[in-house]
Amino acid sequence: MVGVEKAIFDGAASFEPSQPDVYGNAHPKDLLRAITEEHEYLLALARSHIASAAQFERPLLLQLFRLAAKYEANPERFATPIKPLSGKLLISAFYEPSTRTRLSFESAWHRLGGDIMSITDRSTTGIAKGESLSDVAEMFNNYGDCVVLRDNREESVMEMMDKLRIPIINAGNGCDEHPTQALADLYTIMKWKPALLAEEPAEKIRIGVVGVPRRMRTVRSLLTLLSRFSGMVEEIVVIHDGADEELYAPGQKENLVREGLRIRESTDLNGELPDLDVVYINAIAWVKDGFEVMGGNLKLNANSPLKKSAIVLHPLARGDELCTSLDNTQHNWYFAQARGAVFMRMALLTCMVQRTEMVMDIV
Ligand code: CP
Repeated sequence: MVGVEKAIFDGAASFEPSQPDVYGNAHPKDLLRAITEEHEYLLALARSHIASAAQFERPLLLQLFRLAAKYEANPERFATPIKPLSGKLLISAFYEPSTRTRLSFESAWHRLGGDIMSITDRSTTGIAKGESLSDVAEMFNNYGDCVVLRDNREESVMEMMDKLRIPIINAGNGCDEHPTQALADLYTIMKWKPALLAEEPAEKIRIGVVGVPRRMRTVRSLLTLLSRFSGMVEEIVVIHDGADEELYAPGQKENLVREGLRIRESTDLNGELPDLDVVYINAIAWVKDGFEVMGGNLKLNANSPLKKSAIVLHPLARGDELCTSLDNTQHNWYFAQARGAVFMRMALLTCMVQRTEMVMDIV
């Protein structure tokens, strides 16, 4: 016997179910207990477009974290018989590749009992014949209850918003924004240490962000959301390879500092690591129709001089910057981060299509 047949014979087909996240204590109950339900903040999301992280203020974020934690703490409770999205249709339009965002949005919608129409290639739509995105949006109004759009063009989400009478979520527009990724990132940090929710936490954290805020949509959106919790941040260290002359978009750093964040730049990853509590690493920047891998020698592996208690986050997909040797260490919170995104998106979608009251404890 050879090949797969031999592997199967040797036992490769059997497996032991294990926890979804081997590392990364993703259990959400402490976070759930730490936030009092105030559902009126969630009602504001009804029939609202989500284009930018800048739309989220602290009280709304807390309630979204709470609802996400409620879903994550007891996923079965809302699968049946409640099915909050029963009868609702999602249009999932991904004109740029995606593993996590598309599948986690679709998983979230399915888990809540809704139905989905999915476009994974613009060449299968009228866009291939020159149809404008505005006209596509006009059609979407008739076909679904909510749109999730990923497009490598920054302008696309705004073009669609102009014509849509159903809500749209920006699932990544070029190098501009990826607001729901940032929601998932912050949700992970809050599950890790719910005490950070206090206005002035007793212990603040130092966050390293490996990337270029001007060119990376996940970094841009995350920094905006972190500015809503500036009281928990001792310092943000933006770690870069020195190749980019302009690390920030015009006004970007000034806005973040005005919101209370202390930000410093560094090119010495290993020199910074021993003092960082959270290390967020990303190397992909979108450029027109493709992407560029940035960061050069800024790489993490199991031998990197990380603080013992530090957690590593990555929006994924990973490249050489995040070695698989970290996967089986307690620093690996990036898989928990990807898993939590499903529950975070469940929370957001429920509110956007006006089904919030079906999942509240107190109404
Ligand atoms: N985090 C993220 O946006 O991953 P995908 O590109 O796979 O959606």
